[in-house]
Amino acid sequence: MVEVSTSILTVEQGKEAETFLTLEKSKTDYFHIDVMDGKFVEKDTYQKMLEYSSYIKRISNLPMDVHLMVEDIQRAVEDFSVVEPNIITFHLEACENKEEVQKNIKLIKEHGSRVGIAIKPETPIEEVYEYLPYIHMCLIMTVEPGKGGQTLIKDMLEKIETLKRHIEKNNIDIDIEVDGGINLKTAERVKNAGANILVAGTAILVASDYKVIIDELKR
Ligand code: DX5
Ligand code: ZN
Repeated sequence: MVEVSTSILTVEQGKEAETFLTLEKSKTDYFHIDVMDGKFVEKDTYQKMLEYSSYIKRISNLPMDVHLMVEDIQRAVEDFSVVEPNIITFHLEACENKEEVQKNIKLIKEHGSRVGIAIKPETPIEEVYEYLPYIHMCLIMTVEPGKGGQTLIKDMLEKIETLKRHIEKNNIDIDIEVDGGINLKTAERVKNAGANILVAGTAILVASDYKVIIDELKR
């Protein structure tokens, strides 16, 4: 079944506490924590996401889905493991070589979290295949990482289908998460393509009733 991971990147300043509590009541399956270092992507949300995730840890038992858009993955894994996230996802493009990918997978597991690998729109899906047996989730970016409120890149639908076919053919049990421009219109298409975890930020946070949108995205 489909799960929803709400991105808190664009939560309104000053309304964080009530937003997180309302999201919990609205039964989001995860809080999606968008960690940006100002190097891998232009924005720097590092400190803010450290604060938000520590706060969420204190007020909620819901799992956190940490999306690292950073160059120094090791440092970020150490920093964010403090809040015991359910899953930590790093970008394949931030790794120099295969050894570094495997090192990051091992480091995240040693810190007790599940592992995700994210790929940017221009990265061919085949580049992640060799790591699939070692990880729990593949995050297909459906927008260029770096900010919320963008439009889903339609070419990504085929990428989701290709990955879905590959994991089915090779009997690999892994989640396919999609992130960026997911809303009531695009949700149907990414689910039909094979995604089973939908990240949504804007589509949920602009709604007057989060639960209505979350339920609709899951349907
Ligand atoms: C973008 C982030 C996404 C983004 C999703 O770099 O990884 O999680 O915040 O936001 P929306 O749903 O507004 O596209
Ligand atoms: Zn994200």
